[in-house]
Amino acid sequence: MKNPEIEKRIKDLLGRMTLEEKAGQLHQAGGSIVGAFDLSFEEILTMVADGRMTEEEAHKMISTAKRDWHEDDLRAGRIGSYLGLVGSEEMNRMQHIAVEETRLGIPLINGFDVIHGFRTIAPIPLAESCAWEPDLWQRTARMAAEEATAAGIQMTFSPMVDVSKDPRWGRIAESAGEDALLNGLYGEAKVRGYQTDDLTRHDALAACVKHFAAYGAAEGGRDYNRVDMSPQRFEEEYLPSYERAVKAGARAVMPAFNDLNGVPCSVNKKLLTDILRGRWGFDGMTISDANAIAECINHGIAADRREAACLALNAGMDMDMTSGCFLDHVKELVEAGEISMEKLDEAVSDILRLKFELGLFDDPYRSDAEQEKAAMLTPAHLALAREAAQKSMVLLKNDGLLPLKEGARIGLAGALASDGDEMSGTWAGAVQPGDCRSIRDGLDEEKISYAMVTEEPLPDCDVFLCAIGERKAESGEAASRASLELTDADIALLKRLKESGKPVAAVVFAGRPLCLGPAAEYADAILMAWHPGTEAGPAILDLLFGRVNPSAKLTASFPAATGQCPTLYYDHIRTGRPAGKFKYTSKYLDAPVEPLFPFGFGLSYTGYRYSDITAAQTEGGIHAEITVQNTGDRPGSEIVQCYFRDPAARRVRPVRKLAAFEKADLQPGESKRIAFDIPETALGYYDQDMNFVIDDGLIEIHIGGNARDTLQADVRFIREK
Ligand code: NOJ
Repeated sequence: MKNPEIEKRIKDLLGRMTLEEKAGQLHQAGGSIVGAFDLSFEEILTMVADGRMTEEEAHKMISTAKRDWHEDDLRAGRIGSYLGLVGSEEMNRMQHIAVEETRLGIPLINGFDVIHGFRTIAPIPLAESCAWEPDLWQRTARMAAEEATAAGIQMTFSPMVDVSKDPRWGRIAESAGEDALLNGLYGEAKVRGYQTDDLTRHDALAACVKHFAAYGAAEGGRDYNRVDMSPQRFEEEYLPSYERAVKAGARAVMPAFNDLNGVPCSVNKKLLTDILRGRWGFDGMTISDANAIAECINHGIAADRREAACLALNAGMDMDMTSGCFLDHVKELVEAGEISMEKLDEAVSDILRLKFELGLFDDPYRSDAEQEKAAMLTPAHLALAREAAQKSMVLLKNDGLLPLKEGARIGLAGALASDGDEMSGTWAGAVQPGDCRSIRDGLDEEKISYAMVTEEPLPDCDVFLCAIGERKAESGEAASRASLELTDADIALLKRLKESGKPVAAVVFAGRPLCLGPAAEYADAILMAWHPGTEAGPAILDLLFGRVNPSAKLTASFPAATGQCPTLYYDHIRTGRPAGKFKYTSKYLDAPVEPLFPFGFGLSYTGYRYSDITAAQTEGGIHAEITVQNTGDRPGSEIVQCYFRDPAARRVRPVRKLAAFEKADLQPGESKRIAFDIPETALGYYDQDMNFVIDDGLIEIHIGGNARDTLQADVRFIREK
């Protein structure tokens, strides 16, 4: 519901704005790097790509250089927003110019990628999704918002809710994995955490849901690549997560870089106007991805920047992130009648609305240096980062080695075991060197003695902790991989340790599922630590020593071989010849068809027994129950997962689909009855003619501790006519 007072103020302002000022509001500017010569971010990236600058040099330059925020343009009303201006003092300085020195005094809105924390870094989103805990997702978003707003930021380009079924895609790290429901719940929790229910609070951060839509389906797992899929699949598997995040109240949406069935999302009217605003009633702001409007020329959909601007604005794009196409061409396009004044006013209104809702007109200076300093890395934030890391790491294998006994003599192997700065993972732009703690830092702090594994001979110890996997730059944007296998060096290290006869616990750092076959062969235990953030080391030790019982479960399947991608995911559709012993079935000659570790999988130091599953139709859907017992001798949290399968439908349906889940806290020996209510709409799908249908007939309910091991109950589901 629009606020009439705000709408009145928008109308009043629109009446006073020139065409140039309107175009200026649509422009988000980045800061140029000031050095011996001025460089834009894009130029730096090009220099890295063609070898004129190393990645390290570029990073150093970006993080330490002075930025030119184009003050003259700001003064002239040619900038409505900044990308990546970090720091309350600098932000206040620019805001003073916007508010006091421009003709109409319209404040700036400052956006930044606050993806999984600001200074205090929580685990990467893919890791945090493995906690299956919306309340945790919301709390870490709040923490990020408290820090980011104190540093002068008012909007984050998060949450990303791109369902990611292909681990070759580096940005799977930023997602909640391969399932639609999990991505939707993750997005909803993040939006609530960032924004709160009062956007005028100084620590409320506007959320920007991205990348709309289906970016996670980029062909071949290659970043920025095309997405081509049936409308049924799009509606059923990819669209729901954006819808949920938008309906949770997100005030901004970012269209994706990719094209969708041939139309780039940046100029896709069906997405930006028909679905987003028409169907979902969104009245917030859309903002392009970086330079994406200009890139419509590369897509071959616009002849030049002018046409790209025209297509994007008419499709429903409000703000142009850094390409400058709107700034340069909107005026002439309106004068030529190719963009109507009404359309332009809609775009400007969406931007002004968010600025009003945030209270920026009445209260533009949100923080100062002292508040900024006090907000960062507080004890409460560090404790939350540690809790999030504990709840995100997945125990994949344990042949009785873990938990380690206090006093065990440790041999520490692998460069990542000592590299705190690698623990932040992708998209942690405000983190400072030394912020994050490695396993070695954790051991030092706890005064646990250990010996480093270097060259021969191996140290004499009771157990080896071996860190393997990916560095942070190996996942995230522009970090797709054609091979998900462990490196030869990692495999050789594991083998060497194993051959010593001492037990080996592998700790895997990565931003994506990897092929962990060799780790499963040579290590007695595997802890999937992902990139766990600020409190990496302490949280890993909490789990390895059993002070905390592992509870996380995978939200993306782990391949046995890279070639299983992209059909690896748990909810793949059924074929006429499911994999079996017979040759002519759907499988590979040279690799298993099943993942090495399935969706939903994760071990703990206790055991759980499932029994007495029941399921019955209710008025609004299906009610299912199961008993779960903690059969071990320590307390634990079990993530109980409820799937369904429609065995005979009008369109081929997935082998199983996650419908609900619950985290059950269980004391040793304790049993709980866990109940799920599945709304009947969750059972529906689109038929060949795009009608949404819910069939009468048999529905199988499968409940268990992972997608592969479940108990089954059948329901004959008959809808009232
Ligand atoms: C490109 C990325 O695709 C997007 O996710 C991010 O928010 C923008 N750049 C801004 O950094």
